[in-house]
Amino acid sequence: MSVQATKYSGIFEVWKGSKKLLLTKNLTPGRSFFREYLFQDNEEYREWDPKRSKIAAAVVKKINILGLREGDKVLYLGAAHGYTASFVSDIVKEKGFVYCLDFAPRVVRDLYFVCEERKNMAPLLADASKPELYKSRIEMVDIIVQDIAQKLQVEILFKNLQFLKPRGYILLSVKARSIDVTRKPAQLFKEVEEKLLTKLKVLDKKDLSPLEKDHMLFVCQGK
Ligand SMILES: C[S@@+](CC[C@H](N)C(=O)[O-])C[C@H]1O[C@@H](n2cnc3c(N)ncnc32)[C@H](O)[C@@H]1O
Repeated sequence: MSVQATKYSGIFEVWKGSKKLLLTKNLTPGRSFFREYLFQDNEEYREWDPKRSKIAAAVVKKINILGLREGDKVLYLGAAHGYTASFVSDIVKEKGFVYCLDFAPRVVRDLYFVCEERKNMAPLLADASKPELYKSRIEMVDIIVQDIAQKLQVEILFKNLQFLKPRGYILLSVKARSIDVTRKPAQLFKEVEEKLLTKLKVLDKKDLSPLEKDHMLFVCQGK
């Protein structure tokens, strides 16, 4: 079976036996950083696991729009070891750039090694709730991706909107249990959406269960 393009820019799929794999074109051919499967079909592709990435899970769940395109500048809040960020780096390619921010030194150490080989990614050891501390190290971006599993997820996103170009996109992953373990996820997601709507348009949202239990991915755009 050959690799097919999906409706999402830079994201492909292929059948492997009875399983459909999600792929991106490998920006660093011959190199995989997370033991992901490398697939050859004229060019090299990397398997993107929807059980390890909320953006990939939203693609599997057929989200209407992602907003990510070749050439985009991306601010990625909560990049961790860089798993999803590395696929975003494949999608935006050489002309794009991914600022990968995380406040945990242990994960940023691993992220540093990924960024060393992927020239369109840079690690930033910083707290996303304190944008004044990294303001001078980034530029205006086309997309903000946020996956920080924190109680004040929307408030932290709002603080970072100053870096988003007009009509730029936001991919916000919300983990209900990080906001309040005692309350029903559906009610929490409703409250998050109401807050988002005070400043943004919500273009689509997908409940990521069962790939990511009690997570919702919101795609938003500046008003
Ligand atoms: C669920 S993990 C991210 C996984 C990653 N997005 C991926 O798909 O490969 C959440 C990350 O957010 C980071 N984080 C949480 N709060 C943060 C904050 N205020 N500033 C920066 N990073 C934060 C944590 O250290 C953790 O690495």
